[in-house]
Amino acid sequence: MRYDFDTPVERRGTGCYKWDCDEMAADVIPMWVADMDFRVAEPIVDALRRRVEHGVFGYERVPDAYYEAIIEWFRRRHGWRIEREWIQYTTGVVPAMSAVIKALTKPGDKVLVQTPVYNCFFSSIKNNKCQVLRAPLCYTGATYKVDFAEFERIIAEEKPRLFLMCNPHNPAGRVWTREELMRMGEICLRHGVMVVADEIHCELVMPGHKFTPFGSLSAEMQSNCVAMNSSSKSFNTAGLQCANIICCDGEVRAKIDRALNDNEVCDVNPLGVEALMAAYNEGAEWIDELNAYLWENYKALKDYFARYMPGLRVSELEGTYLVWVNISATGLNADELTHRLLSEGRVLVNSGLMYSDGASEGQNFIRLNIACPRSQMMEGLARIRSVVDRI
Ligand SMILES: Cc1ncc(COP(=O)(O)O)c(C=O)c1O
Repeated sequence: MRYDFDTPVERRGTGCYKWDCDEMAADVIPMWVADMDFRVAEPIVDALRRRVEHGVFGYERVPDAYYEAIIEWFRRRHGWRIEREWIQYTTGVVPAMSAVIKALTKPGDKVLVQTPVYNCFFSSIKNNKCQVLRAPLCYTGATYKVDFAEFERIIAEEKPRLFLMCNPHNPAGRVWTREELMRMGEICLRHGVMVVADEIHCELVMPGHKFTPFGSLSAEMQSNCVAMNSSSKSFNTAGLQCANIICCDGEVRAKIDRALNDNEVCDVNPLGVEALMAAYNEGAEWIDELNAYLWENYKALKDYFARYMPGLRVSELEGTYLVWVNISATGLNADELTHRLLSEGRVLVNSGLMYSDGASEGQNFIRLNIACPRSQMMEGLARIRSVVDRI
């Protein structure tokens, strides 16, 4: 390995959410919010250093090279051909999602999600005065599947305007296969439902799996889709706030442009732009090594649970660095266990209830962030075990 993911980086006192939030006393280990404890790839640091040296940070006019970096990355890495005018930038995937929902719905419309799912899906839908429509994923005991008949029944009966899809899926850990995407996409086409694909985790894919951009499925699917993406999640630059919406339909884009302006999220900062260009132009090797490291972390975590906490079931991880663990054997619900892990074990995890908006799909799960040096992850696991042993 050329890159070092083992050496811890001190993040406390840098004003970072993950380590400096109120719950994070000096002795707590964080396994919660989705950013990584790794230093970013050197080309990104170099690009930022050069930009900072210039010393002037006025309003940004995004350069041509920005669009070229995105187009080339998706062509090379994911076999998806994007055209320049399809790309709209904004400050994050959540602001993108909110603007897309605002642009393509009327108050009261239904937006379909597959639960459990990333908590901001619920808030973005509700903040835009729409209704959350759930198509729960089917838990098999090790992973999640789509019940296609149920998915279609819900769409046919409830007539949502949009399907807000997550691929790779946070927190289920799935990377939807081409066949699954086609089937979901065909159902949406049949019923006139537009697909809004949150693909922010798309570079974080484990061995044996392949990310398929929804827009790359076919021309028809592409026309019925708005994709949202950023280099920020996988290259660990979330604080630099820069993301993209990709849509080939000019009329839909015009509506989204209006919503981005209404929401005042149509400008990005120069450092985010530099980071994205460096990531996409020079970061492929780093991402490959990162994924290899995350996979080793996941295997070590799985072994640890099998040996010391065999009653708790670790879900398969196909993508993301967020591991979804079934805790029903503890007899506690997710909030109760999360609370005890913090108060007794000094380890902060996410309660599964966050990902079902309080509904039952998340009550038997916790979500663990494993994007940290292995030694730190093992210490976090030992703390989880110390609490589970006492239950
Ligand atoms: C599925 C998903 N979408 C969006 C985000 C956040 O995106 P951003 O920070 O660009 O707003 C996250 C963060 O964890 C996420 O998991």
